[in-house]
Amino acid sequence: MTYDVVVIGAGAAGLMCALTAGYGGQRVLVVDHANKAGKKILMSGGGRCNFTNLATTPANFFSANPHFCISALKRYRPEHFVELVERHGVDYVEKAPGQLFCADSAKEILRVLLTECDWAGVDIRLQCSVERVERLGEGMQVLTSQGRIETGAVVVACGGLSIPTMGATGFGYDIARQFGLAVTDTRPALVPFILTSQWKARAAALSGVACDVAVSVLRDDQRQGPGREQHYREPMLFTHRGLSGPGMLQISSYWLPGDELEIDLLPGIDVGEALATARRQSPRRQLSTWLGERLPKRLAQSLGEWYGQDPLLADLSNARIETWQGHLNRWRVKPAGTEGWRTAEVTMGGVDTQAISSKSFAVEGLPQLRFIGEVLDVTGELGGHNFQWAWSSGVACGNAL
Ligand code: FDA
Repeated sequence: MTYDVVVIGAGAAGLMCALTAGYGGQRVLVVDHANKAGKKILMSGGGRCNFTNLATTPANFFSANPHFCISALKRYRPEHFVELVERHGVDYVEKAPGQLFCADSAKEILRVLLTECDWAGVDIRLQCSVERVERLGEGMQVLTSQGRIETGAVVVACGGLSIPTMGATGFGYDIARQFGLAVTDTRPALVPFILTSQWKARAAALSGVACDVAVSVLRDDQRQGPGREQHYREPMLFTHRGLSGPGMLQISSYWLPGDELEIDLLPGIDVGEALATARRQSPRRQLSTWLGERLPKRLAQSLGEWYGQDPLLADLSNARIETWQGHLNRWRVKPAGTEGWRTAEVTMGGVDTQAISSKSFAVEGLPQLRFIGEVLDVTGELGGHNFQWAWSSGVACGNAL
């Protein structure tokens, strides 16, 4: 059988595109080399899938072409996806402002997509690896481990490089290059940091401890990151290997090897002023007691050990208060690296969007080839934005097929 559309990748973007095109009357086949559709959906959001963010705007995305995502995000918005999951009776919760998660399990989101694909008449072929994509007259042919498929159009929804054990390959980039498209530099993003030497040991001793922080990247030279305000106020988590938690994942999108992190362990508190006041009001208290009222107990104790001091507040000179202000409001640490593709949630960079239509996602001059989702150089912040991009780009492309 020949198909109007072959979608490569049964992930969030591919399934959304397939069901949209199927409802539009297209004969659609989705192929994936994995043994199960939507594996990343199942593992996302700690198994509960942060499936959208009600506050998603183009400002939540990094791309060499920041305007590219505007049109699709405007046409298929978070409330459209919420409407879809509500129609399927999925219970959800708003865990942080705007961030919607399944109340029960990420399986619910996959169930919605697979049910809709079924209703839209979409065929899904799993354990089918795509080896090559070629032009064939006005259409395309797809060479797979299960044979050759002729089709009118190919949609590349192969995702990025994160979590290779889940099926990530970089195959989408190969197809892009084959058809003359550029691929911007890729690197792991939304990824924990690893520390070395004394800081690794200190983080490991605090593994499991979390606190609210404000974090930014310090960069000496002019190297360019994604280029926006480099500052997040979100929780940090100490791990056996270094630092994680939402604040660290967010800032990792800006971090380049060699950069330092500046972490405010007491955001919103001017430690200089607060300690001077405490010294006047309760001079007989120990610093660790004061810290323990503002930070997790284990961290408060460790800070005294790290810096070899636990004085009475009365004994803090102005100079020592200033030093402690530095330790607490401007803790500087240089990560040795990140945990890399093994645990990164997303890929920064990807298929350059300059030669791709932001309306139909078709390649300029080759409308039978399209790219959607994470394979493109469009990367969201943490908090449901990446799935919203998968839904919005999938729908825009599916409607245009
Ligand atoms: P996706 O990677 O989902 O799908 C690509 C598919 O292509 C895969 O099924 C793969 O097997 C297939 N494929 C690759 N090469 C192939 C080939 N040669 N032949 C056939 N098939 C091939 N985002 C968010 O918004 N909220 C969240 O809660 C989370 N949580 C989260 C947790 C973890 C651990 C990770 C790793 C990621 C997240 N994300 C997230 C990010 C989110 O999962 C991601 O942005 C989307 O899944 C991207 O969807 P795509 O469909 O573009 O790619």
